[in-house]
Amino acid sequence: MSEQRFYRFLQERIGLDVDSVGAPMIERALRQRCTALGAEDLDDYWLRLQQSHDEQQALIEAVVVPETWFFRYPESFTALVGLAHKRLAELAGTRPLRILSLPCSTGEEPYSIAMALLDSGMAPGAFRVDGMDISPNSVGRGEQALYGRNSFRGSDLAFRERHFAAEGDNQRLDTRVRKQVHLQVGNVLDPALRSQDGWYDFVFCRNLLIYFDVPTQQRVFEVLKHLTHANGVLFIGPAEGSLLARLGMRPLGIAQSFAYVRQDPQASAPAIQPAPAPRSTPQAAPAPRPVPVVSPPAPRQAMARPVLVSPQAQREGADALLASIAEQANAGASDQARASCERYLRQFEPKAQVYYWLGLLSDTAGDAQAALSHYRKALYLEPQHSETLVHLAALLASQGDEAGARRLQARAARVGRESER
Ligand SMILES: C[S@@+](CC[C@H](N)C(=O)[O-])C[C@H]1O[C@@H](n2cnc3c(N)ncnc32)[C@H](O)[C@@H]1O
Repeated sequence: MSEQRFYRFLQERIGLDVDSVGAPMIERALRQRCTALGAEDLDDYWLRLQQSHDEQQALIEAVVVPETWFFRYPESFTALVGLAHKRLAELAGTRPLRILSLPCSTGEEPYSIAMALLDSGMAPGAFRVDGMDISPNSVGRGEQALYGRNSFRGSDLAFRERHFAAEGDNQRLDTRVRKQVHLQVGNVLDPALRSQDGWYDFVFCRNLLIYFDVPTQQRVFEVLKHLTHANGVLFIGPAEGSLLARLGMRPLGIAQSFAYVRQDPQASAPAIQPAPAPRSTPQAAPAPRPVPVVSPPAPRQAMARPVLVSPQAQREGADALLASIAEQANAGASDQARASCERYLRQFEPKAQVYYWLGLLSDTAGDAQAALSHYRKALYLEPQHSETLVHLAALLASQGDEAGARRLQARAARVGRESER
């Protein structure tokens, strides 16, 4: 197929795996770029792509997914604060802490790191955050530090009052936070990153590996492991975890933080245990929230008495509950999200989306068996449920079932193509 060369180009340049994102997404980007350039056909566009670095960058911009927001997975920032104070004490003033956010997209992640540390009372001179992303557009927007509503999700937005000032409908981030963060354009596949061996005390690499195939994930994990100091911590996204075990990294065991340290066969305790985070100044942040312990699903209650409501009201109730499950899960409120899923299954007809959320919540809590069972139920109800296909594929791959993972990825790609039509 004539698109194959574009898939190969994107795979080689940025690691993007066509099966993970679905061919329609890339085909859409190709059509968009052909129209923008007035290219006659894909052959003409291919030639122009070869000749122009700017066009290569434009195609990359058209396919990347910049979705991000402040304090995504809030528990990881709480965990970071405790770990960072401990690490700073170990360094005993020899140098500031070094933290990397790769990919940083439009800056919400590295700025959240800086806000969390400043709010915990850490001095500005005590740390530095580097942010890196392949997209010059995103990095440029991050440098502007002007954010719209989409960057503020979840229920706890007190940080907005502390660190932002309204500018029209948007919010401008305070210079005090911006000064802590240095953004730059960069590629996680760049071999030069390998020379920065052990440079960073904390590395955040979240929601990137899900777009890569398994060999590229392995390659990137090696790079990330090398970038992270031997006593450092690597933060990844949910569903990106289990591959790390095979590279000698293990979870720190802080619920919902997705934090990994190097496996140390000698030691039974992790290299760094979180220190109790110091109290912050009264006008700054409230004391960091305790890390919630993931509780088991609520026991199933006796069957609810039927309530006489119209089908329309039923549907609206179900839709509203589904929306709040998504909001709670995206805001990192896992216990609440799980309880809402259980409630949904008690009150309404079983639904693939709800089993998908349960699967994802189990997956992120490290319970692969439960995750598998929920994902399978989701696919039983809706064999084409694309989010489940992608996440189950990632889970199977992490368990070494590469053939199974490939099958599901191919199925997800087919679903994508069909929905495009
Ligand atoms: C979904 S965002 C994740 C942002 C943030 N880490 C988070 O979890 O909210 C994915 C980002 O990865 C970037 N990206 C894709 N391929 C990359 C690569 N090879 N090197 C660096 N960044 C890349 C994209 O530009 C996009 O901004």
